[in-house]
This record gives sequence, structure tokens and C-alpha cells, in this order.
Amino acid sequence: ALYGVVLAGGTGTRLWPLSRAGHPKFLHPLTGTDASLLQATVDRMDQLSSSDRVFVVTGVAHAAEVVRQLTEVPADNVLIEPSPRDSCAAIALAAAVIARREPEAIMGAFASDHLIADKAQFTRVIQQAMGGARQGLLMTLGITPTRPETGYGYLECGSVVGDGPVMAVQEFKEKPTYDVAESYVKSGNYLWNAGMFVWRVDVFLAELSRQQPQLAAGISRIAQAWDSPAREEVLGEVWPTLPRISVDYAVMEGAATVGRVGTIPGDFGWNDVGDFHTLGEVLVSDHAGNVVVGNEADGSKAGVLLRETENLVVVPTPGRLVAALGVRDLVIVDTPDAVLVCPRDRAQEVKSLVDALKDTD
Ligand code: GDD
Ligand code: MG
Repeated sequence: ALYGVVLAGGTGTRLWPLSRAGHPKFLHPLTGTDASLLQATVDRMDQLSSSDRVFVVTGVAHAAEVVRQLTEVPADNVLIEPSPRDSCAAIALAAAVIARREPEAIMGAFASDHLIADKAQFTRVIQQAMGGARQGLLMTLGITPTRPETGYGYLECGSVVGDGPVMAVQEFKEKPTYDVAESYVKSGNYLWNAGMFVWRVDVFLAELSRQQPQLAAGISRIAQAWDSPAREEVLGEVWPTLPRISVDYAVMEGAATVGRVGTIPGDFGWNDVGDFHTLGEVLVSDHAGNVVVGNEADGSKAGVLLRETENLVVVPTPGRLVAALGVRDLVIVDTPDAVLVCPRDRAQEVKSLVDALKDTD
């Protein structure tokens, strides 16, 4: 069975004012149901893993809320980082802790802030990826690109491995420039990296040692102390010294150049919910294209009154009413202490507001 590792880090600044440092996007019910993105990520693995094989890596500030939301995951499987060191350190820590239990375990690393519409297809694709992982490949999931997005990684597809469906990845290019991304999309030979990985923990840790010896040595020291009384002390000492780098740059780009990366193309209704516009694209809308991202349990969904509006994304807050009349193509987000209104096609720029707010601190 699969060890499922959920990465619950990052704040999602383009979803401000909903997503905050203190309450990042994975803790919010942005799924169209009452489940948070984090809970949906764990639920999605129920055909692949068992609760005792699910691990979450999160920051010290969110650990209590993560444990509270995930009642089935053993508290000891919530790995707490003293500070954010980006995804490579988080994934490596989980891999090393799992390797102590089962040295050749297959793990999947999943972002906690993605929406996936087709769970059955997702499950099939992960099972296929596990086949590639058994053969010693670092497996990625590939999504057919629809635009030259510069915030993603790109996979250049090579030949089919064996009888398929695994395909070799010739090149892994993280966050290309716009022009390069455009040429990739036009070529038809590139997929987006979905940001989910499947591999044998020993294969990943060997590749980490080869490419990131300092990070690997630090993680190995932490793992050795993991089941001893010295865990906290070693973690506190070593963690801040680890390089702050994402797994894409740290391991995947270099692994692809030596032929160790594979992919399964999988279209399972993937969306990384980066901003309110894309959130509105994946959730169910009314006949006029309006999407209300409310919660049934807290009553916020009932607190929205729309008259002759079109194509709105509305995020209400419990205990207050949001009313809109005769407007279209807007994002309206209400929270107890901040309101956001902007055109849907400028939802990406919300990040610049957050940057401006930081400057005035
Ligand atoms: N625990 C922990 N600690 N998790 C982290 C940390 C950290 O310090 N930093 C990032 N993560 C988690 C995020 O929560 C997210 O689930 C995942 O790692 C990826 O990090 P992002 O910061 O969201 O990366 P990205 O969106 O820029 O790029 C990645 O995802 C794209 C798809 O959404 C890459 O893998 C791209 O190649 C990919 O296309
Ligand atoms: Mg992301």
C-alpha cells in the first residue's frame, strides 16, 4: 500500500483575504462541500492508503488545527517543521521517517491545496504511477497544458517505458519564462507537472544525496534522532541550516537529465486553486455563472443575495449578508476584518495587494 504524504505549507497569498498566514488556504472549505482542501486531500487517498500510512508535514503554527481537522490520522504522523524550508526539506523529512519503518516503501507526495474532480481516475493514475515507482523511477503526474502558465513545472515526454502507460521524462523545467512556456505548449510534447510525486523512499533519498548532499545529511541526522528523546533538540539545531529550495529545482530537474523521471499523463479534473478566478472555474455555478463558495454547516452559503448578477465569485463569511445587484465578472470576498472586490480577470494580481500590505507593517 501507498504511504501518502500531504504537504501542508505555504499561505496562498492570491487568495487573500480568505487565506492568511494564520489560516492558510488548505484549512478552508474551498471544495464546494464542507470539507477543507486538506481534508479532501486525505479523503482522496482512501482507496490507496490506510490512515496509519498517511503523514502530513506542516508548520508549527498550523499543527494543532491540522490534527483537529484530520481525526483519523495518528497525531504522531503529523510531522512538524520548526520553520518553512520549502517543499524539498518537507518531502525529505517524510521520506526519511517512513524509510525507518519500511525502507523500500512507496510514497506519494501530495499538495494539500489542489482540487481534483475525478477521484476514481486519480486513484487509477496513482496506481499506475506506483508501477513506475517500483521500477525505480521518480514518478510525476502530467496534466495537458491549456495556457503558457509560468507558475508551473513542465515535463517533456519521451518514449513509453515497457508496455506503458509510464512515459519517460526527457526534461523537467520548473517555472519557465513566458516565451519558453509558450513554445512548450505549442510543441504539444510537454505536460504540466501536477506537483504530486510517487516514488520509493530509498530511490528518492539516494537521488537527494547525489544532488543535495547537505540537505540529505541534515535530514539523515534528524531521522536518526526521530525515535529518541533528542528529536526536538536535533530538529531545532539542524532544521534552520537546511537549504530552502523546492523539490522541483532541488531534485526533479537534475533527475530528469539522467533519465530517472517518469510520468503518467492523467486528466482527473486537476486545479491548483491558485486564485479566486480559477476557484470559480472548478466549482458548480448557477445558471448565470455565479459561484458562491459558502459553507452549509456555518450558514454562510445562505447569507448571499444576488440579483441580476453574472459570473461572480462570492465568498461570504458566517453571520453577515453579502448582497450584489446588477454587476458582473467580479470577485467579492468577505471576511470578519477585510473585504476584497476585484474583476475576475485580475484575480491573479491580489498578491500585489498583500505585498503592499506587508510594506506598510
Ligand atoms: N510542509 C511544507 N513546508 N510544505 C510546503 C512548504 C514548506 O515549507 N513549501 C511548500 N510546501 C507545499 C505547498 O503547501 C504545496 O502543497 C506544495 O508544497 C508545492 O508548493 P508550492 O509553493 O505551491 O509550489 P508551486 O505551486 O510554486 O509549484 C509546484 O506545484 C505546481 C503545480 O501546482 C511545482 O511542483 C510545480 O512544478 C507544479 O507545476
Ligand atoms: Mg502551488
